[in-house]
Amino acid sequence: MFVATTQLRRFLLCVFLWLLTQRGTCGAYHEEGRYPCAFIDTVNITGSYSMGSNMNGSYLHNWTVIPRELVTPYDFVIENGIRVPAVRHLRACVCRLRPCVRFCCPAGQFYQLETRRCVDHPEVPGHSHMTVQLQNGTQLHQELGTWFSVHVESPCDHMRAVTKDSEYLHWTLHENGSITHREHHFTKHYCFTPLLFGNSSWSWQPLACEPEKLHFVLGVREWTYAICLLICIISMFIVLMVHLTCSDMRNSFYGVAVKAYMICVIFGYALLAHLTLHDPANLSSAACRIIPSRCSSWFCPFTY
Ligand SMILES: *[C@@H]1O[C@H](CO)[C@@H](O)[C@H](O)[C@H]1NC(C)=O
Ligand SMILES: *[C@@H]1O[C@H](CO)[C@@H](O)[C@H](O)[C@H]1NC(C)=O
Ligand SMILES: *[C@@H]1O[C@H](CO)[C@@H](O)[C@H](O)[C@H]1NC(C)=O
Ligand SMILES: *[C@@H]1O[C@H](CO)[C@@H](O)[C@H](O)[C@H]1NC(C)=O
Ligand SMILES: *[C@@H]1O[C@H](CO)[C@@H](O)[C@H](O)[C@H]1NC(C)=O
Ligand SMILES: *[C@@H]1O[C@H](CO)[C@@H](O)[C@H](O)[C@H]1NC(C)=O
Repeated sequence: MFVATTQLRRFLLCVFLWLLTQRGTCGAYHEEGRYPCAFIDTVNITGSYSMGSNMNGSYLHNWTVIPRELVTPYDFVIENGIRVPAVRHLRACVCRLRPCVRFCCPAGQFYQLETRRCVDHPEVPGHSHMTVQLQNGTQLHQELGTWFSVHVESPCDHMRAVTKDSEYLHWTLHENGSITHREHHFTKHYCFTPLLFGNSSWSWQPLACEPEKLHFVLGVREWTYAICLLICIISMFIVLMVHLTCSDMRNSFYGVAVKAYMICVIFGYALLAHLTLHDPANLSSAACRIIPSRCSSWFCPFTY
């Protein structure tokens, strides 16, 4: 009887731990599946002409026919890598029809990395033409408009250049819109800007979003999680009290084992609740030393 309840408790703890690890991944998977492509590959096509059922419900946007399956209503936009709620609007995956090329600034300007703004410069090269590498390896100085869907927008407010040993790299723009340096692919969340080398030579560089320090917000999810943990702690505490007062076996080997187990789990859950409610950026070094002991509290029940 006693062994059975311990095993049941262990099983429930395993299920709980498994649920904790699954929590994030389930949601993310579901959301990706709802949209035909990544947000960065879409444009707002509000006001485009819908061609009706004899054209399979396709849309006409800027003289391009967009198949219905590439058009989805969105109720958010992504700004600086963060989802921001927005009025429901239609967006189309235009980068699926033609590869997209993004520029940070309008023609005649370049992105100044220090001030993080577009700055006028009389000698900035125009972005109508760029060197494009074809599938067979040939490099051509191409007019971009005929091959690509050209967008002028920076995906984030703060962009940074990617350097290696404080040198800029030579990135190649491919015919399919991907940007590579040897085997490395540049992120999709980029924009091109000309940068000045030395005094007079300009070179095109893709810029990536600068990682922002994430804001720590105590949302409904964190509070629910912390309250569940608190309820767990209280019930475990009651079980421990009952065990201490009523059990005849409390001084036997199993009694001591269960007491140690309960205390470890209560301590572990309390620490977990504490970590949930505190900004990870503010954790002191003392707290970091405690975390290994929290981990060991997961293992201690399994050693009996
Ligand atoms: C989408 O485009 C329409 C028309 O140009 C505009 O009114 C609306 O604000 C845009 N929506 C978003 C979320 O950008
Ligand atoms: C509409 O879809 C059907 C089958 O998916 C296809 O045979 C037909 O050619 C399409 N019509 C147009 C105008 O695209
Ligand atoms: C419409 O498409 C043309 C090329 O086909 C492009 O030059 C122009 O910028 C596009 N306009 C918009 C608003 O996307
Ligand atoms: C690569 O393809 C382009 C056009 O498809 C062609 O003009 C060029 O000669 C080809 N280059 C080689 C090396 O085959
Ligand atoms: C685009 O082409 C390059 C070189 O041919 C290749 O490495 C890359 O995987 C391609 N990207 C996509 C998305 O097909
Ligand atoms: C850059 O310009 C400065 C003066 O504006 C000049 O002293 C320097 O030699 C120039 N450097 C190169 C590499 O041309």
